[in-house]
Amino acid sequence: MKSPDQNRASTDYATSPQALPRQIPRGRGAAEAKKGDISRGGGHPDDTAFGADLLLAALKAAGEPTRLRLLALTAQAELTVTELTHILGQSQPRVSRHLKLLCDAGLLERFPEGTWVFYRLARNGRAAEIGRTLVSLIPADSGDTANDSARLATVKAARADAAADYFKANATEWDRIRSLHVPEAKVEEAVLGLVSNRKISDLLDIGTGTGRILELLGPSVDRGVGVDLSREMLALARARLESAGLKNCEVRHADLYSLPFAANSIDAITCHQVLHFATDPAAAVAEAARVLRPGGIIVIVDFAPHEVEALRERHAHRRLGFTDDEVAAWLFAVGLGAGPTQHLAGDPLTVAVWTGIAPDEGSD
Ligand SMILES: C[S@@+](CC[C@H](N)C(=O)[O-])C[C@H]1O[C@@H](n2cnc3c(N)ncnc32)[C@H](O)[C@@H]1O
Repeated sequence: MKSPDQNRASTDYATSPQALPRQIPRGRGAAEAKKGDISRGGGHPDDTAFGADLLLAALKAAGEPTRLRLLALTAQAELTVTELTHILGQSQPRVSRHLKLLCDAGLLERFPEGTWVFYRLARNGRAAEIGRTLVSLIPADSGDTANDSARLATVKAARADAAADYFKANATEWDRIRSLHVPEAKVEEAVLGLVSNRKISDLLDIGTGTGRILELLGPSVDRGVGVDLSREMLALARARLESAGLKNCEVRHADLYSLPFAANSIDAITCHQVLHFATDPAAAVAEAARVLRPGGIIVIVDFAPHEVEALRERHAHRRLGFTDDEVAAWLFAVGLGAGPTQHLAGDPLTVAVWTGIAPDEGSD
């Protein structure tokens, strides 16, 4: 399975020495919260108290017709400046200035993805509460709001079409790989079985691709986030999550070797058919272990050792599967206990599901 971005990524994360994992923390608790941590999704820096100053600043920022429209729009979808400019019919500098004011007041969050920047209504913090309240008071059928929603629907449809075209262009390759192993439904059943009895506040799907794992697990978690290096994949995932109505899930552009999350901030991590692309799977597991909360689980799905060289030549796989011992050693090296392992035999590929469990606080 290769995306245009993976071709690019083979320079970025497979062969380029400067892109090799930077300081990978070894062992649990080795790293502090990271710069650029998005696990809590921003919010106003000074908003720990619901003070009058914060309320006034937020109301001042929101108290303008275009900015109210921006709040209503970003409550419905994550949007770029270009998309917002198109919907509002205003110049880009003007829209950018409004966006900046709303971000400064903590009402909106901005997150860059390569050369693009997405905006959405803030989710955390006191200013976010004000933002949600204001949005709930905006009449959905007022002239501007109704027109904006109609234009937003067009933007979403265009995104979904672009995603579908990309998927179609690559579908044959993906289907070819799928035909080599057990049906996806069996693998998904195994993954669901491993996490369904857990209370999961924060789920992270590493190398989320088209976002299928988020779609599968999203309904049973409080928040889900998927990360991937490929913008095309992220576009597909976004379209999938939007059409599934999973507002609690989102995707971000990030490298699995340098996750933009604080240490001990995630309850469950999935890494489905990703590690065979990795130049350093042990480092990938170490980085995942860093963000896992005590008692948390990581579920790794990949191939058992195989000899299908074509996957290397045609699909950029670096590794032809992994042994149970190899995976157990990565988990052990970063202080995770090996949980249950399952093998789903297919012809010629066997899919393996490995689990690692972070020790509870205070346990030896
Ligand atoms: C085979 S796809 C699997 C996608 C998804 N997990 C699934 O099973 O449907 C592998 C994904 O890993 C992503 N990937 C590869 N290397 C990555 C890296 N260093 N950081 C983040 N994502 C990466 C690719 O872009 C691709 O979307």
